[in-house]
Parts: sequence; structure tokens; C-alpha cells
Amino acid sequence: MSPSSSPTSPVDPRALRDACGLFATGVNVIATRLGAQDHGMTANAFMSVSLSPPLIAISIATTARMLPLLRESGRFSVSVLAAGTQKLAWHFAGKPDPAFAAPFESLEGEPVVRGAAAAFLARTAQEIPAGDHVIFLGEVFRLRLEPLRPPLLFHKGSFGEIAEQSLVSAHMTAFGEGFW
Ligand SMILES: Cc1cc2nc3c(=O)[nH]c(=O)nc-3n(C[C@H](O)[C@H](O)[C@H](O)COP(=O)(O)O)c2cc1C
Repeated sequence: MSPSSSPTSPVDPRALRDACGLFATGVNVIATRLGAQDHGMTANAFMSVSLSPPLIAISIATTARMLPLLRESGRFSVSVLAAGTQKLAWHFAGKPDPAFAAPFESLEGEPVVRGAAAAFLARTAQEIPAGDHVIFLGEVFRLRLEPLRPPLLFHKGSFGEIAEQSLVSAHMTAFGEGFW
């Protein structure tokens, strides 16, 4: 029996979801290309894992249409959404909007979101079953950064943005001295 379905678990799934929602994150669109078909999915389960080798991790629900596509393509992009793009985030979270008929541009043959704050291209290095999700470790082979473009945020189930003042000071600290 998987941990998520254990009847003896002391943790209520709703409470777990609410607790995780207190951890503020950015918002990404994971995308992959199979032939002429691009598929995107909104995701905030993203983690920087290793600098050498360069590894990132994403977590995909076993029910997501993205899962079999990722397994087949063996490659994916992670586009870090910019502030003001919450409609695009909903578009890729099961609420399709015809306004976003062509949201991708091509970077080394992979679909990435136009106007993203950053884009990672990765080859799947490892797949790890994890309850009702599957974790993909990706080895990064290309990056694109727009460090002055403010990010979209997600907290307590709502989208938000960084206040202007804190963005300026954070930029000076992070990119002036290096971190991670
Ligand atoms: C802010 C936000 C973050 C999300 N993060 C994830 C995630 O990390 N992993 C996941 O599997 N689904 C996540 N979802 C849900 C998927 O975006 C949603 O189920 C989507 O419709 C799946 O697309 P697909 O079935 O077409 O691949 C998130 C949704 C939102 C709004």
C-alpha cells in the first residue's frame, strides 16, 4: 500500500495541502515536445538539486496527461513564469483559454514560454516513483535567464507578486555575491 493511501496515516491530506500552501513558491510551466505536439503543465513542485552535475527535480501527478508524454520524450523544459501571467498559469492548469493558442517559442527544439523569467532545458536522468506523483530528475543542458523580470508567486492557493522595493534589494544580494 502506498503511503498516501494508508488508512493509519495520522496526517489529513487537506491539512497537508494547507500546510504545504504556506510555503511560498514561484510558478513554472513544464513543457515537452513530441513530434509536432507541444504539451505544457503548470507546476510549483520544482527544486534545484545539484550544481555538478547540473540537476533539477519536478514532481508530476500520476494522473497528469504530462506523465506519459514526458516518459516518451525524455526531455522537458521548465519556464519560470513572470509576474502578471496568472491567466497563463491557469491555462496550463486545466482551464484552457483560447487567448493562449501559441504560448511557446522554440529553444534548441524545446517549447519554452514566451516572456518567462527563466528557462531550463533538461534531459530526464532519473524517474522516482513517489506515492501519487513521480519525481523526474533532469540534467540541465541549456539555460536562459531574464534576472530583472519579476516572477509570479504562489502562496495559500493564490497568485501574487514581489513588491518592487524587495525585488531591487534581493537582486543586489543574490546576483552581486552569488548563492546556492
Ligand atoms: C500553482 C499550481 C501548481 C501546480 N503544481 C503542480 C505540480 O507541481 N505537479 C503536478 O502534477 N500538478 C501541479 N498542478 C496541477 C496541474 O497543473 C494540473 O493538474 C494540470 O491540469 C495537469 O495537466 P495535464 O493533465 O494536461 O498534463 C499545479 C497547479 C497549479 C495551479
